[in-house]
Amino acid sequence: MAFCIIFLTLILGAFGEEFIEEIFIKPLPPTHLYSYFQFITLVDTESFVHSNLAPRSIGEVISRFQVDELHMTLTEGQWRHSQWGYPVLDAAPGAELYAWFNPEVKDIDLEWRKLSATLSGLFCASLNFIDSFNTITPQMALWPTGAVKSNLNVTTLLRYASLPREIVCTENLTPWKKLLPCESSRGFSALLNSRMIHNTNYHSIGVHVRKVCASEDCTETKLEIKQTVALVYDYKIIGSNDWSFRKLFGHGLPGACPLATSSIIHVDITSNTSYPFQLSPMPDKVVQSRRGGSDLKLAVYEIDASVEMINIGVKHSTKEKLSVIIPPPLHFNRYVLGYGKEFGGIVTELVNNYWTAIDVVVLENAPWWLPIQLSSLRINSEAESKLVKSQYYSPGRSRQKPYHLELLLKLPPRSTTTITIDFEFVFLKWQEYPPDANHGFYIGSAIIAANLPTAKNYTSLPVTGINYHSTINASQSWYPAVFRTNGAMVSLPTPDFSMPYNVICLACTVVALAFGPLHNICTKELILKPVGTPLSLTQKILNFFKRKKE
Ligand SMILES: *[C@@H]1O[C@H](CO)[C@@H](O)[C@H](O)[C@H]1NC(C)=O
Ligand SMILES: *[C@@H]1O[C@H](CO)[C@@H](O)[C@H](O)[C@H]1NC(C)=O
Ligand SMILES: *[C@@H]1O[C@H](CO)[C@@H](O)[C@H](O)[C@H]1NC(C)=O
Ligand SMILES: *[C@@H]1O[C@H](CO)[C@@H](O)[C@H](O)[C@H]1NC(C)=O
Repeated sequence: MAFCIIFLTLILGAFGEEFIEEIFIKPLPPTHLYSYFQFITLVDTESFVHSNLAPRSIGEVISRFQVDELHMTLTEGQWRHSQWGYPVLDAAPGAELYAWFNPEVKDIDLEWRKLSATLSGLFCASLNFIDSFNTITPQMALWPTGAVKSNLNVTTLLRYASLPREIVCTENLTPWKKLLPCESSRGFSALLNSRMIHNTNYHSIGVHVRKVCASEDCTETKLEIKQTVALVYDYKIIGSNDWSFRKLFGHGLPGACPLATSSIIHVDITSNTSYPFQLSPMPDKVVQSRRGGSDLKLAVYEIDASVEMINIGVKHSTKEKLSVIIPPPLHFNRYVLGYGKEFGGIVTELVNNYWTAIDVVVLENAPWWLPIQLSSLRINSEAESKLVKSQYYSPGRSRQKPYHLELLLKLPPRSTTTITIDFEFVFLKWQEYPPDANHGFYIGSAIIAANLPTAKNYTSLPVTGINYHSTINASQSWYPAVFRTNGAMVSLPTPDFSMPYNVICLACTVVALAFGPLHNICTKELILKPVGTPLSLTQKILNFFKRKKE
């Protein structure tokens, strides 16, 4: 068995292929636990068809639609940045898709529509609802994370869309798991059973494809397919703040995937200093990372395929005290203003807690039925703000194009910045309302791209087998991050859809009431009663019994 695995690994290595699986577990004190899975497949761009590890369906999508980089996430729940810090990868609630196409593509909009329809079929998600009326081309907020030619005008190649209403469930997870080389039979993906996943407060599944350099000078590239799952558990649902794989996923880990070059589990044990706990079994090693203002301690497990069953867990020796949550350096909030059914406003609040200024790009994206007026843009209730360094606005068009506003801001140290923009409510055509029109209409999240000056509350996986990843103590002058705010909901002026029903009810009642007397009049014969001497009481009683007998 061991020989077979080594042999297999050697063969795959010769093809330049690699598969890496990782789990990262971080307590989010005092009430939640974050677990993040990532499965990375690396393949040669040319030999995709002959690959043993890479999912063929993704490969074909990438090559047919000439996609250079692709990000797709399906998320249920809301990541709370001010309480939980930052996730490894942020995602907008609902479905989100964005991609950079190859410069050789002639009609990007056409390929984009085809791409979203294909992915929709592949993941059983409603991505086919993506069309020009909800697609934008971000100018400053999103940049490729993979290798791109530096002389390229990448913004024109980008398309972005989000569907905040999309509901994520089991039918999306099953096709997602099928893309992994070990599917769900072996390896870390065996932990992901939908019964436990849909019990969480927040879950997000994603597929991220990009090109990475295969050589020093980056003349050769490889394709990296990264599949991710992020889960946030509430200790209340687990029952206590002592967790274990069995409690989180329903069973232990049945060893690593035999096709994986490395299978690593990281557990963030930094909080052990304040609330001591015991980790079982003992980790293979403990690594320390000190970078950009953060001080991390990670327990590392290297799992191999021969492991029978492993159940990593934590037992606290003291009860966790309620602690004050220190919010991360940058956090934000979004809400809807206004009353009545005519005008309203969206407010995005950005808080910079840090002692230096932070540069951020804020992308507001409003659907065509919520026209936002650039003239009503106020920053800290000023029309002309010194904070705005650059601005991009693309007005929407009814049923064709969404409204899109991007602002490059310099947030002053220790400040709160409010961005307010007004909108009007629009009357939709009656077929354009969803079946539950009174539920309200979702507005997508704003995207916030920031260059954080510190790595505090910044989460990234430190050690992996692949050398292009950042090493553990790497210090940078800034840490790039892209966040999504919470979504919002508005209630549009909705016609009274119960009206036809009321009319039908009323009409039916009237008809029913009129029917009885009319029927009686039309069908019954009128007979005159002979008028004689008034009957005595005994005669009346006799008559009564006589009628009974008949
Ligand atoms: C952010 O990081 C600081 C220090 O690293 C920590 O004290 C604080 O609790 C963290 N906040 C959150 C919300 O994670
Ligand atoms: C990139 O393309 C956009 C839109 O076509 C254009 O406005 C911009 O100037 C171009 N930038 C460069 C560096 O060529
Ligand atoms: C946490 O700290 C206690 C002592 O303070 C130590 O016994 C224990 O092993 C630590 N736990 C981990 C996971 O390092
Ligand atoms: C990172 O820095 C810490 C503290 O400075 C040190 O103990 C640790 O060995 C370093 N880790 C690596 C991988 O260099």
